[in-house]
Amino acid sequence: MLSLLQTVLLCAGSLISRSVVCPAGSLTGTYLAEQPGVPISIPVTSNYTGIKKIPDDDHPFIAPGPDDQRGPCPGLNTLANHGYLPRNGIVTFAQIVEAVGEGFNMEYDLAAALAAFAMLGRGNAYLDLVSIGGESPLIPPLPGFIDGHHAPYGISKHGRFEGDMSITRQDAAIGDNVNFQEDLYDELLLYTGKYGDDSPVTGNSSVVTLKVMQEFKYSRFLEDQVKNPVLEYHPGRFATSYGEAAFVLEFFSNGNCLDLH
Ligand code: HEM
Repeated sequence: MLSLLQTVLLCAGSLISRSVVCPAGSLTGTYLAEQPGVPISIPVTSNYTGIKKIPDDDHPFIAPGPDDQRGPCPGLNTLANHGYLPRNGIVTFAQIVEAVGEGFNMEYDLAAALAAFAMLGRGNAYLDLVSIGGESPLIPPLPGFIDGHHAPYGISKHGRFEGDMSITRQDAAIGDNVNFQEDLYDELLLYTGKYGDDSPVTGNSSVVTLKVMQEFKYSRFLEDQVKNPVLEYHPGRFATSYGEAAFVLEFFSNGNCLDLH
């Protein structure tokens, strides 16, 4: 069943692709003739409750090629590296929802809301295509060029989804906001050493916990206020940046430690 949020986002998507992006008479006939709109399909919900090996033999790791798109989301990058998402990084709404469900067991409504946000903010909802990295020649500009005469930027572009104070990506204004930054990861490891839990498998102070994330994110917040003169940390960004910290705890757990506290 669709949640309220999902319904709102999907309606917004459908409105944008049918009436805002393509208001009657605003499109060139050429675009319409060559690029008929693609209805966004809603995947069926899975009711599989058993245990599944991820990745399985059908989804080997293959490093991305030079033309494959990768971006600021380690979850989507991993899914594309294993072929749960198209390896070129150009994806549809349904492919995202199905891949995050199969690969990481992300719940359907959350997946649909994030996928809709990415598609509407940085993709081409008219053609049901979004890049999990940067701009791609495989995705044409939006009809009517409502977002400029260029391909949609993809989720790497700062400002709508990608934002400041990430965990392992630097703020766009002061560094690389797309690729993994070792210095930020080292900082996370320091906080893990200080506040992390012990594990019989990985050693003392090696488990990333809620406390680790709280302390680390707060330190990033203080640090960013000094380093980034144009820091943007509004309520929307607050929710997504802390959400990502929860993603690390919930989706990247490897089964060695059963309790997260
Ligand atoms: C459902 C579709 C998803 C979309 C559209 C999406 C999109 C994004 C975007 C745009 C960012 C960059 C935000 C920023 O500037 O910090 C991001 C970051 C992140 N995503 Fe995703 N994501 C999705 C699913 C997932 C999943 C399934 C996981 C985990 C398995 C995940 C884990 C993360 C983490 C940990 C970060 C923060 C990376 C860092 O700051 O170092 N995401 N995601």
